[in-house]
Amino acid sequence: MKLTVIGTGYVGLVTGTCFADSGNDVVCMDIDRKKIESLKKGIIPIYEPGLKELIQKNQKEHRLKFTTDMESAVRESGIIFIAVGTPPDHNGATDLGAIKAVARDIGRFMNEHKIVVTKSTVPVGTSEAIQKIISKETRTPFDIASNPEFLKEGAAIEDFMKPDRVVIGVNNESTGAVLKSLYEPFTRTGNPIIVTDVRSSEMIKYAANAMLATKISFINEIANLCTITGANIDDVRKGIGYDNRIGHLFLFPGVGYGGSCFPKDVKSVIHVGRQHGYSMELLSAVDRVNDHQKALMPQVIRKHFGGNLKGRRLALWGLAFKPKTDDIREAPSLVIIPALLKAGASVTVHDPEAMKNIKNVYGSKIQYAKDMYAALKNADGLVLVTEWNEYRKPDFDRMLKVMKGNVIFDGRNIFDRQQLLDSGFEYYGIGR
Ligand SMILES: NC(=O)c1ccc[n+]([C@@H]2O[C@H](COP(=O)([O-])OP(=O)(O)OC[C@H]3O[C@@H](n4cnc5c(N)ncnc54)[C@H](O)[C@@H]3O)[C@@H](O)[C@H]2O)c1
Repeated sequence: MKLTVIGTGYVGLVTGTCFADSGNDVVCMDIDRKKIESLKKGIIPIYEPGLKELIQKNQKEHRLKFTTDMESAVRESGIIFIAVGTPPDHNGATDLGAIKAVARDIGRFMNEHKIVVTKSTVPVGTSEAIQKIISKETRTPFDIASNPEFLKEGAAIEDFMKPDRVVIGVNNESTGAVLKSLYEPFTRTGNPIIVTDVRSSEMIKYAANAMLATKISFINEIANLCTITGANIDDVRKGIGYDNRIGHLFLFPGVGYGGSCFPKDVKSVIHVGRQHGYSMELLSAVDRVNDHQKALMPQVIRKHFGGNLKGRRLALWGLAFKPKTDDIREAPSLVIIPALLKAGASVTVHDPEAMKNIKNVYGSKIQYAKDMYAALKNADGLVLVTEWNEYRKPDFDRMLKVMKGNVIFDGRNIFDRQQLLDSGFEYYGIGR
């Protein structure tokens, strides 16, 4: 099939590449000229394991092209995926500016029947709004569909190629059949393609992210109570996880959820509720608990150093909002770093992939280490913020030699508390 993907970010680029890899002819379009020029040369603007190789392979086989030309991108394909950003505005509402601009362009350049698929995460009713915008521009018949994306950054290729499920929202059977056949190569293991109406499909994405965010805020709140009462969250987690109705997955306490999805999607659901006169009590609390969790670690650090961080040197391991990505959008590090600086500390950071992005935010306000041990040089303490694999089993003796102090603030509970205490460290975890 001939496909166009508009918006070549984390989702659009992975979507376009994976569809090309399953034999389709794909055009990826973006308004960002620099990004498209790089991609044409095989230079990938983001870090995502396996993506570079897959892009280069499909470029070589002429199934994957990049362009900034909206007109040809629309005209060339029968199926157009919209995968542009849907960031939050200052009220927590979803900014649909890019989506609407793209819809207008699709309408303007529509030359024959097309299926216009919303892959971006959008509030219920947006695909219908897209339909109206396109209809204003063209009399050519077209169909709309909703096809939310569930990939996780850091495992995006794997998630796209082997999805737990695919959700497709359509207004008629024939559109559903076309999209189902497009996804069939990825669901050979029997994972379902769920076909719904358009509104339910849009809601499924928000409900999924809201549920996942709720799990994180829930376990963080219980972990904080463990700290206060002397219980151990590791045992509590195990103790509840063996209940089949609860399960073990996604119940890890930490320094709060970040990324470009959970924070904005939770806020968007709250906002949509408000628009309809319905107060989303649970999700409002989930959002507040998360803000609190991000602010908690700097408070613990301050308290440890007697309320004053002047002259203290802190090392941070991990800046991305999660491992295996360079994405720092809404990352806990963006709350922890300014809080430490404000309290008078100097901060040296390390991350395997996100240093460049953090440098764009903090410039010369912080120091950037060439490797994880260099970050510890003369540090009074280490703050573990993102659980990259390479941080999990460090050389603790080497760390003690390099550091001035001996305290570790483990924001992801990746270290063995007793082992660290035995090695001569002081240790703070989350709820342990
Ligand atoms: N990142 C994720 O893990 C993830 C997962 C699932 C769903 N989503 C959703 O997918 C959507 C895209 O997310 P992302 O992380 O890929 O965003 P992104 O910011 O990485 O990429 C968006 C791209 O759209 C381009 N763009 C903006 N306006 C445009 C226009 N008018 N025409 C063409 N291109 C335009 C930008 O230049 C950018 O390259 C969002 O709705 C997001 O909520 C994201």
